[in-house]
Amino acid sequence: MDIRVLQPSDIPHVQQANITNLPENYFCKYYLYHALSWPQLSYVAVDVSRPQKTPYDPPKIVGYVLAKMEEEPTDGQQHGHITSLSVMRSHRRLGLAEKLMRQSQRAMAETFSATYVSLHVRVSNVAALRLYRDTLGFTVEKTEAKYYADGEDAFSMKMDLTKIK
Ligand code: ACO
Repeated sequence: MDIRVLQPSDIPHVQQANITNLPENYFCKYYLYHALSWPQLSYVAVDVSRPQKTPYDPPKIVGYVLAKMEEEPTDGQQHGHITSLSVMRSHRRLGLAEKLMRQSQRAMAETFSATYVSLHVRVSNVAALRLYRDTLGFTVEKTEAKYYADGEDAFSMKMDLTKIK
């Protein structure tokens, strides 16, 4: 498995993975906005064991993290935000999400001097919560009631990045 920076040509495949794995979906231009504005922050996991038959054969994207910097931080602190993260079912529990997150977090700190990274996650999402809280060290800042379109609450989470600089 190869972890590399998201390229604009990956976007249709990342969008497909997002649609498969999560109910929160985005227009193509929103992915492009991330890739062009903060090209260091979004990554894909590519299954390189699958032979590429022609140069036009698309890469097999099995996971991605889509991330950005907060453009107008209300607290005045430079910080990153994880817009979306997912790994295809066939490739879960291999450590891919952890690697994708760590790559993005490092780039936030090193390239943009981010002091922390934030995200939202459904309160019922046990797998993601374990990853964020127990594996990566995020903490819950607050609960945002009815954050999602279907009425579910979100945990707003944060992780300090000052120690990885
Ligand atoms: N149950 C319990 N703990 C889990 C689970 C699970 N199903 N999956 C991951 N974890 C925890 C474990 O502590 C795991 O370490 P371990 O395997 O040594 O026990 C640790 O997270 C790291 O796991 P990874 O292998 O790196 O995680 P994976 O690549 O499987 O991806 C993810 C985790 C992204 C949550 C995946 O299950 C997924 O794509 N789910 C659907 C989409 C989703 O919920 N995305 C997050 C939404 S929030 C947002 O996008 C900001």
